[in-house]
Amino acid sequence: MKVTVIGLGYVGSVAAAGLAAAGHDVVGVDIDRARVKAFTAGRVPIYEPDLGKIVAEGMASRHLLFRHADEFVGSAGDVVLVATGTPPTPTGAADLDQVRAAIAWVKTAQPRGCVIAVKSTVPPGTGRRLKETLLRHNSFQYVSNPEFLREGQAVHDWFHPDRIVIGGSAPAAVEAVRSLYSGIKAPVVVTDTSSAEMIKYAANAFLATRISLINEIAALCDRLGASIDDVVSGIGLDPRIGRHFLRAGVGYGGSCFPKDVRAFDQLALNNAYSFELLRAVITVNNRQRLLPIYALRERFASLSNLDVAVLGASFKPNTDDVRESPALDAVPLLVDEGARVRIYDPVAGEQARTRLPGSVEITGTLVECVRGTQAILLLTEWSEFLEADWEGLANLVAEPRFLFDGRNALDPSKMLTLGYEYCGIGRGNHRLTGALATPRAAVP
Ligand code: UGA
Repeated sequence: MKVTVIGLGYVGSVAAAGLAAAGHDVVGVDIDRARVKAFTAGRVPIYEPDLGKIVAEGMASRHLLFRHADEFVGSAGDVVLVATGTPPTPTGAADLDQVRAAIAWVKTAQPRGCVIAVKSTVPPGTGRRLKETLLRHNSFQYVSNPEFLREGQAVHDWFHPDRIVIGGSAPAAVEAVRSLYSGIKAPVVVTDTSSAEMIKYAANAFLATRISLINEIAALCDRLGASIDDVVSGIGLDPRIGRHFLRAGVGYGGSCFPKDVRAFDQLALNNAYSFELLRAVITVNNRQRLLPIYALRERFASLSNLDVAVLGASFKPNTDDVRESPALDAVPLLVDEGARVRIYDPVAGEQARTRLPGSVEITGTLVECVRGTQAILLLTEWSEFLEADWEGLANLVAEPRFLFDGRNALDPSKMLTLGYEYCGIGRGNHRLTGALATPRAAVP
């Protein structure tokens, strides 16, 4: 099938290469010249494991090519996938300008009509409204086809999805989209456009809620001397609960959860409904993101002239994406309080530059980052940090070797043995000092 994918970001580039791998003839289109040029030269401008490989294979087999939107010629094909961004507006609602612009572009490029399948995350009701406005009186069929790719594992997720969701009212259009995925084994949920759009928001809201709930429980573990690891093991064995998305830490970040949860909240308000649970999820997450600074303030009388190493800049491992990264939130506050901050990330250091105060040093290695510092904040659980020689590093770090593990990624007992003052989240038993962790008073 001939397919055009509009938007070569984290979703569109994986979709384009994944569809080409399945034998479809795919054109990836973007309005960013540098991005199109990079893909055309076989250089993938984002860090996403295995994406470079499938892009190269797609181009070699001639099933995949890239074009700037202004230079597109010929037919856009049977199905056009829209994978443009939906950034937040000042209220937090999703900004649909890029989606509308993509649809306007399709109407010009493909005047005879085609199926327009929207992968961009758009608020429930968007498809219905677009059908009544932009797509009224013409031969375009609108289908909602949300994606559930995780950054860092997006290529794997493309070929092994948990489900494929297709929302639309025209059976032929739904079938056209379904046939794009004919080589993939996964349950297919066919529904109306609003329900498909709601599935996407509900999934992200549900996962974000799990994270904030476990972070609330971790806060109580710290106060009552319980271990969040054991609590998660204990509740996770209940198949109704499971273990997924119950990792306590410095909160969720990235380009999806924070934006989508806020947009969902705003959508509720726009529809005269106050989504109280979701508001609490947002509040808890905002607090979690500042735990590193709370922990340092509690441990050190003053942060002035304290040398601090921040390990991690990306919002999670295996991506260079620093959008809404919890790893970066505490840094400006630390700098304001007089700390000298160094940061190291295996891939995302430079991407973080514009989000960091100018005085922050971005180092090229883990060793350079921690050498001579008194405090380490581990904020992204890259395997390089998990597998590091923490014994050797201990010789480079100055007293008191305060180690804040914002992702509960290290073994507390081992770190204590190596001479670090270890502080995790909800690992109250393993916290040496401080009121955040120590059981405060007898609580009935
Ligand atoms: C998320 C969803 O998992 C995807 O299904 C969805 O397609 C995507 O958003 C999207 O809407 O496009 P992603 O943002 O790549 O994917 O990242 P996740 O792996 O879900 O992690 C999000 C954040 O939650 C990260 O900051 C991560 O560190 C944090 N997290 C995750 C926790 O704090 N605890 C957990 O137990 C799990």
